[in-house]
Amino acid sequence: MKKGFVFDLDGVITDTAKFHYIAWKNLAKSLGILIDETFNETLKGISRMDSLDKILAYGKRENDFTLAEKKSLAQKKNDEYVTLLADLSEKDLLPGVHDFLVQAKERNIPCSIASASKNAPMILEKLGVLAYFGHIVDPETLKKGKPDPEIFIKAAESINVEPKDAVGFEDAQAGIDGIKAAGMYAVGISSTETLQGADLQVASMTELNVDQF
Ligand code: BG6
Ligand code: MG
Repeated sequence: MKKGFVFDLDGVITDTAKFHYIAWKNLAKSLGILIDETFNETLKGISRMDSLDKILAYGKRENDFTLAEKKSLAQKKNDEYVTLLADLSEKDLLPGVHDFLVQAKERNIPCSIASASKNAPMILEKLGVLAYFGHIVDPETLKKGKPDPEIFIKAAESINVEPKDAVGFEDAQAGIDGIKAAGMYAVGISSTETLQGADLQVASMTELNVDQF
């Protein structure tokens, strides 16, 4: 039996990817850059500043802004993103997530969050599930983002579980790569993408139960 669960947030616990996409698309458009959903896939799991760098490179504008200007662009994107999250509540938990968290709690299996999002604590609070997590890794403390394993190793350590005894849940390829590099069991959750290297892939958490691990 595995001893701990490490969750990504965006795309696993709630579907915020659509809001990230709207906010990035609008920011990119204001800079004369058009992004589509295929490009957006490459932003999943990637930090805010790295996402901005990818968008600027995509639009061949990577040398047009100072660091201060880029910080202000990232802030503008986040302001719109947070506005889009205003009505987020328990109804926005993805199917199967609440039941899984309740089961884990009943069996005393600790859970933690490995998300690149600096908005994670606020989002989990709005979703009403903050109390299920023993720890949320602060992305500010990371040397490298996903696909580096650092965030997953920290998330497992934070709940006193060795990576080999932990299961990681991810919807993005960068996340699956990080989980595997950390030496953990990787569960991919996606109904649209094939996640390479996942030990198990499901379309939704409704297909999972704690005892199978
Ligand atoms: C990840 C998302 O979870 O968090 C990315 O998949 C996002 O799309 C990243 O860029 C950072 O999020 P935030 O909320 O700090 O801008
Ligand atoms: Mg994700």
